[in-house]
Amino acid sequence: MTIKEKAGQMCQYVALEHYKHTKKLFNGKVPKNSDQYAFYPDLSIQEIKDMVVKGEIGSFLHAKDLNEVHELQQLAMKSRLKIPLLFGIDAIHGHAVVEGTTVYPTELSLSSTWNNNLLYEIAKETAQEVRATGMHWTFSPNVEVARDPRWGRTGETFGEDPFLVSQLGVAFTKGYQGNFGKDNILACAKHFVGGGEPFNGTNGAPIDVSERQLREIWFPPFKAQVDAGVYTFMAAHNEVSGIPAHANKFLLTDILRHEWNFKGFIVSDWDDIEHLHDIHHIAATKDEAVKLAVNAGIDMHMHGPGFLVPLCRMVKTGELSESVLNRAAGKILKAKFMLGLFENPYPDKTYARKVLRCEKHRKTALQAAREAIILLKNDGLLPLKNKKKIMITGPNANNERIVGDWVLKQPDENVITVYEGMKDVFDNCSVDYINSGESLRHPDNEKLKLPVAKASEYDAVIIVVGSNSLRYQDPEKTCGENIDRANINLPGNQLKLIKEIYAKNKNVVVVLVNGRPLGEPWIKENIPAVIEAWEPGAYGGQAIAEVLKGKINPSGKLTISIPYCSGQINYFYNHKPSSFFHPYRDIPSEPLWYFGYGLSYTTYRYSELNVPENAYINDTVTVSVNVTNTGNVSGDEIAQLYIRDNYSSATRPVKELKGYKRIHLNPGETKKVEFKLPPSAFAFYDINMNYIVEPGEFTIMTGSSSRDEDLLKKTLIMNNR
Ligand code: BGC
Repeated sequence: MTIKEKAGQMCQYVALEHYKHTKKLFNGKVPKNSDQYAFYPDLSIQEIKDMVVKGEIGSFLHAKDLNEVHELQQLAMKSRLKIPLLFGIDAIHGHAVVEGTTVYPTELSLSSTWNNNLLYEIAKETAQEVRATGMHWTFSPNVEVARDPRWGRTGETFGEDPFLVSQLGVAFTKGYQGNFGKDNILACAKHFVGGGEPFNGTNGAPIDVSERQLREIWFPPFKAQVDAGVYTFMAAHNEVSGIPAHANKFLLTDILRHEWNFKGFIVSDWDDIEHLHDIHHIAATKDEAVKLAVNAGIDMHMHGPGFLVPLCRMVKTGELSESVLNRAAGKILKAKFMLGLFENPYPDKTYARKVLRCEKHRKTALQAAREAIILLKNDGLLPLKNKKKIMITGPNANNERIVGDWVLKQPDENVITVYEGMKDVFDNCSVDYINSGESLRHPDNEKLKLPVAKASEYDAVIIVVGSNSLRYQDPEKTCGENIDRANINLPGNQLKLIKEIYAKNKNVVVVLVNGRPLGEPWIKENIPAVIEAWEPGAYGGQAIAEVLKGKINPSGKLTISIPYCSGQINYFYNHKPSSFFHPYRDIPSEPLWYFGYGLSYTTYRYSELNVPENAYINDTVTVSVNVTNTGNVSGDEIAQLYIRDNYSSATRPVKELKGYKRIHLNPGETKKVEFKLPPSAFAFYDINMNYIVEPGEFTIMTGSSSRDEDLLKKTLIMNNR
């Protein structure tokens, strides 16, 4: 291969339909600061096509559909070496940026199921749909730890706990990649690292973090993906302790490649090599930025021109070693071989018709929504029984906001809104939708009048509120990528709507459809029933209705703490012991809702916590607890296990999740739940940064949430051999 052919493999462009759409949308002007849209003003479509034929492009992202993939692969087959193109896409909760695909609940929602097998299945099905459209690579899983709910991308994550994020990420990675067969795709662990705790809550803002914190909180989910065989990594937008991730040799090479032995390739994030120059100012020119990034460990440039030319020039002049090209192109080509692209680069239309949004996938999406929905409060109003007339209102009651971010407009009939779900599920009762206005950013108080006036005519009122992460409604978004907020209250006039309706009718259920935590203490204090649905996907409306009716017993649990208000940020359950040494004067020091919390229509009792009194530091410790369904309906319970290292040479969190199990229990039934804790569960970085288990006392806790009163506790003494 020539230098240019190798460098060409490292170049990714937005696909041509995306280019055309963007150019039209922005009237030929380059969109400013957009991480969503791009076209290349200095390149015509024909010139990009010619580049493919010349072997100057190795990958595209955001192709529209299989026809576009087919056309571009035909061009690649005209190139000298006939190397097929690799197509990447953000198929992060289903292949949902392509029309007519299955839209599963978003990651935060999926994490609330605490169901590794279900997530594995969803990733497997997603891979099958991606592959059926001729694409090969998803920019997922996002295994950042979400520690600041002002951050609009919180909903893309599996929540705030490094252990849970690791496990669910591995389920995704394995489901996507399988054994790189014809229905599998490459996974991408992203964004490495630290974007989930930007110092001011905004996407891409700096994180300044100690190596201890990196190793204890941020690295484990990424390391777990490497151990699971993830083939690609994406660097983060943000700087980490002064060095932008894209130029961070310590992260991309020393840790990822050398310490963890990562064998795959690293892609840059959208424009982030350029941002080394124009945002971070650590490179005086864009060419210098290319050099920094490639030397740090980046293998592929997302996206567009400005990479190939300086790269080739620098290799030719000896400014950059050709070995960086060999490293990168070698790994990218290996992926193309592993996926079988050299045998057949083309998608198969008949297969796509069979696979996309097939019945099996739709069922899984519905099942996921059912398992994910969280009941936060119930003073006995739910499930809604013997009601003749129900009103449903609120800005998220009858639209597609249930699908969340990273979804393109899907045909209306493919999405069941909450109102549509209610109409269907409550078949023996009249359900009226009264529009209260849908805009969250430009609300109209006039529109509240009708639902408020009508509220007293109904047996119960469902108010669906929350946020808007729909990327095709950009100016109206309040959540999602690059939509960060300083406040975590309900945007717009939503609280006003709730308060005014509640003044007229006490039988109010608030359903939250939102992409990140919203802290509204008034709702918790006053409203009798509250449901956190997150963004439950295309079948979310049906699942919410089934929960309201009692056809489905809610079982989801929070994977992120909901702070009381934005001033309480950063709140996370695994905080250090001195975090609330002095309480706040004006608000509680407890969160509004705890990590791990979620109610059911039945009740569970935990008993007989069995913990050995003594163990040795190299032992795997077995802990068990009995869980009994003490209510009248069957249900799923998510049993959780936490530990605390009571005395240690460096400070340890007050609790750390080390195990969880989702179990089904019929009324009266008891199951013994067993947890195996390997030595790593007790290990940490000691005062000298050695990863060890320190002998001494540990508290073992099991129960239904991270809240102290929900946990049984026993002490274990860890001994040196
Ligand atoms: C996001 C990535 C995403 C990429 C491609 C970027 O703006 O940060 O997560 O994979 O765009 O769409």
